[in-house]
Amino acid sequence: MSATRVIIESQGDPDVMQFETVELGAPGEGEVQIRQSVVGLNYMDVYQRSGHYPMQLPSPLGLEAAGEIVAVGGGVDGLAAGDRVVYGGVLGAYADFRNAPAARVIKIPDGISYDIAAASLMKGMTVEYLLERTYKVQPGDKVLFFAASGGVGQIAGQWGKHLGAEMIGVTSGAENCARALELGYAHAIDRKSEDIVARVKEITGDAGVPVVYDSIGKATFETSIACLATYGMFVSFGATTGEAPPVAPSLLQHCGSLYFTRPTLANYVGPRADLEHSSSRVFEMILGGQVQVNINQKRPLSEVIEAHAELEAGSTTGSTILIP
Ligand SMILES: NC(=O)c1ccc[n+]([C@@H]2O[C@H](COP(=O)([O-])OP(=O)(O)OC[C@H]3O[C@@H](n4cnc5c(N)ncnc54)[C@H](OP(=O)(O)O)[C@@H]3O)[C@@H](O)[C@H]2O)c1
Repeated sequence: MSATRVIIESQGDPDVMQFETVELGAPGEGEVQIRQSVVGLNYMDVYQRSGHYPMQLPSPLGLEAAGEIVAVGGGVDGLAAGDRVVYGGVLGAYADFRNAPAARVIKIPDGISYDIAAASLMKGMTVEYLLERTYKVQPGDKVLFFAASGGVGQIAGQWGKHLGAEMIGVTSGAENCARALELGYAHAIDRKSEDIVARVKEITGDAGVPVVYDSIGKATFETSIACLATYGMFVSFGATTGEAPPVAPSLLQHCGSLYFTRPTLANYVGPRADLEHSSSRVFEMILGGQVQVNINQKRPLSEVIEAHAELEAGSTTGSTILIP
């Protein structure tokens, strides 16, 4: 059978993405073949396309999709044709049909649509490991989270509130601030018009926060350091404006015996048991109504170039999905 997918031959602006039609063989040992209904867009796709992350070229693109299994290769247990499934972190998701390693595929529970599965798996698992396993958020903690209106940020506000934290979100503009306050954040700081450090000092009575989750990177490094309480943890989990600078041990010493970590989802859901734990926490939070996933951009996959440009410009909110 033939499949249509997106590839890049070089890294750069969104228009390096091209469509190609390839012959897709039967799924190999340990693989399943998926008819993909929905692709999830993640900021990681931008890093891989733009050159922020090195890639072996030419390369397919996209990491997350949901759909139906149409064929199963040898040595696969527990998955069958007709199963509704989702995966994250497997390169080549921008496609209508593909073969994927069964070890990375998760069955979608009843009550979760393909749209929601593809819009929430990677972003939700990121929130799960950040809030529950990197720094373990405790009831009453004041937690600073950047990009509060984005895909990851909207889930984090609600999840943190459910854990009993007082969530402080940083976003841009009055509309995004108002929305953040509806989605779990107790405080919303407008990064375009407010002094983030001054607001955090005011909210925390000068103490600072025990944890900051910073996905912005280079542009907000000093701000994040200045917002931390003694013994605080700096969780640098993204590089929307470029990587955070190298961190000197003496900086951590002089700024209050701080901790610094640069975690990645790939490690936290590497072992199958962790993948199952994390994905089931995400589905549990959605099905239980603690987390609402907002799909604010839905486009055909043929508009992937526009979708990347929009995400990179910072003009999206919530999750973006693409329909092959
Ligand atoms: N380490 C991991 O395991 C992991 C896993 C998943 C995602 N991430 C990271 O988490 C972040 C969020 O991912 P996402 O897919 O949910 O994207 P997103 O938050 O929906 O989009 C990026 C957001 O960053 C904010 N932003 C702040 N300064 C910006 C600037 N100068 N230029 C552009 N945008 C700016 C914008 O929100 P405002 O205007 O509202 O501030 C924008 O909406 C990304 O940095 C991603 O790499 C990390």
